[in-house]
Amino acid sequence: MARRKKIYEGKAKILYEGPEPGTIVQYFKDDATAFNAEKRDVVEGKGVLNNRLCEYFMSGLNNIGVPTHFIKRINMREQLVRAVEIIPLEVVVRNVAAGSISKRLGIEEGTALPRPIVEFYYKDDALGDPLVTEEHIIAFGWAAQQDMDDMVALALRVNDFMSGLMMGVGIKLVDFKIEIGRVWEGDYMRLVVADEISPDSCRLWDIETGQKLDKDVFRRDLGSLADAYTEVARRLGVLPQNAPPLGKPTLIN
Ligand code: TMP
Repeated sequence: MARRKKIYEGKAKILYEGPEPGTIVQYFKDDATAFNAEKRDVVEGKGVLNNRLCEYFMSGLNNIGVPTHFIKRINMREQLVRAVEIIPLEVVVRNVAAGSISKRLGIEEGTALPRPIVEFYYKDDALGDPLVTEEHIIAFGWAAQQDMDDMVALALRVNDFMSGLMMGVGIKLVDFKIEIGRVWEGDYMRLVVADEISPDSCRLWDIETGQKLDKDVFRRDLGSLADAYTEVARRLGVLPQNAPPLGKPTLIN
């Protein structure tokens, strides 16, 4: 079989042309990067875990009526998704202060925020994904006023779903980032959650111990990233309790 045509390669994923028009195959790599790829490593098994976790989150969202681009998982590292027109914004929702909001506004990490705060960052690696306001977004035509309202509503629904899911397994959803895409159905356009939702794009803290179970483990050199993601997957029942360590072949005999 001929190899699929590569459409785009990012820091953590590769996109290939899908089997039918309007579909894309999303391949999860083991590469971990932080600080706009200034720090990088290969974490064996990360792509497999993120593919599984992303499937779990996206199909759960689809099931409760929050539209996403996700169609189905194909294999260990690949999933089939709808082709969308990505809005060039990173939409961040924060429940607890951490990371850049703590730095920017001097709020101690771990401080509960009075309500979920939605922020927008302009997706431009050369600029380091700067924080932007609704004024910038509308003035520069990245999204329309109606899109803004829809994006905030979508992001808050994802927050409620993900917060509840995580709370059920003893994890606090501190914050997360999503990307949103446009899907056209005839003349009608709707917004869907796209890209990925995984521990790469969330902050997840154990409720009891405060232990970090997300990409901050890599960003801040706090231990094994694969162990942290495996813990999240095991708690959610995404990996069987007795699954062998990822990346190691299973001996059948
Ligand atoms: P921040 O505190 O660094 O702004 O990050 C907020 C959330 O967004 C956090 O859950 C990590 C996620 N995030 C990404 O997914 N990609 C990025 O490039 C950055 C900077 C953050």
